[in-house]
Amino acid sequence: MTTTATTTLIDGIGLLYTGDPEREEISDAALVIEDGLIAWSGPAAEAPAADERMDAAGRAVIPGFVDSHSHLIFAGDRTAEFQARMSGEPYTGGGIRTTVAATRAAGEAELATHAFSLVREMRAQGTTTVEIKSGYGLSVEHERRSLEIATTLTDETTFLGAHVVPAGMDADAYVRLVSGEMLEACAPYARWVDVFCEEGAFDGDQTREILTAGQKAGLGLRVHANQLTEGPGVRIACELGAASADHCTHLSAADVDALASSGTVATLLPGAEFSTRSPYPDARRLLDAGVSVALATDCNPGSSFTSSMAFCVALAVREMRMTPLEAIRAATYGGARALRRTDVGWLRRGARADLVILDAPSYVHLAYRPGVPLVHQVFLGGLLL
Ligand code: NIG
Ligand code: FE
Repeated sequence: MTTTATTTLIDGIGLLYTGDPEREEISDAALVIEDGLIAWSGPAAEAPAADERMDAAGRAVIPGFVDSHSHLIFAGDRTAEFQARMSGEPYTGGGIRTTVAATRAAGEAELATHAFSLVREMRAQGTTTVEIKSGYGLSVEHERRSLEIATTLTDETTFLGAHVVPAGMDADAYVRLVSGEMLEACAPYARWVDVFCEEGAFDGDQTREILTAGQKAGLGLRVHANQLTEGPGVRIACELGAASADHCTHLSAADVDALASSGTVATLLPGAEFSTRSPYPDARRLLDAGVSVALATDCNPGSSFTSSMAFCVALAVREMRMTPLEAIRAATYGGARALRRTDVGWLRRGARADLVILDAPSYVHLAYRPGVPLVHQVFLGGLLL
């Protein structure tokens, strides 16, 4: 028996940002969805016939955002910490332990429901792929539980047992636990391993040890690198072939060179600088050196409690001097590269039909009209949410 797949034509697209470097922008465009994938995209005048038609009425279309860095499995509240920062207190990462205590005390259903509500919030704002880290459990069972919940929400799960050393524990003993028993319990639920390489968290040797153990267990590498100080994180990430070095706020010339000559993406998280009132990373320096750049939210209760990729695009343009084109590219194609994915982040033939119709004639409006809810409709795997 043969079945005929239904094809859907979306035409009337004022401006299509495809994310495909070969043909990034198409005016007066159309695209065809078939079996949840992009079957065709191009000028509307050349569009093939389809079973169903939808008129975008001059709106812009972009690939769904790829948010390649978030920490959604947590409980508790750090409003007071944010308030204190806005009165001049610095951000140190010390509040992570507050969230760890609240997360350990929370039931599994509470954690899962909360994380699901954050993913729903993200989707409504145009994010169709999200990476989710553990890192607020910091014991074998609490980290495993966090990752198990994360697997119900995304394929892009990251083991971040090495977020900080939990209160009352010896650092060396904890590094051994993370690279041994905890890794073994968590690896079946994780695609990636990540380390917060920073003063007060994990130093270069510890970072290397944990990443190498993760690699041996079959996980891909990501690093929280150079967020608060100019540490060794970026160079270790590049050396070990990490998919991404995240934050990249304090970089030496050698760090920029290492990123430019490696396959490691620099993932910038301007929500963190916004929310910790810190200087933004020098995106221009990275782009001008030829580094691959991604943008992500870093959604977490401490340093960046935003789920909005559009907000990060606006910050990148206004505060980090990225052009609107560079910013939308980093938030879609860049995020996909940071996750080593070729099936999302662009709207070329064969990619997943994850796309956003904006209530605006151009993606430029994401920065030009900051804070305005511009998401008209979101398609996930060809299905309208
Ligand atoms: O990416 N820097 C380390 N981890 C998070 C912050 C976590 C927290 O403050 O709870 C980040 O900014
Ligand atoms: Fe983070």
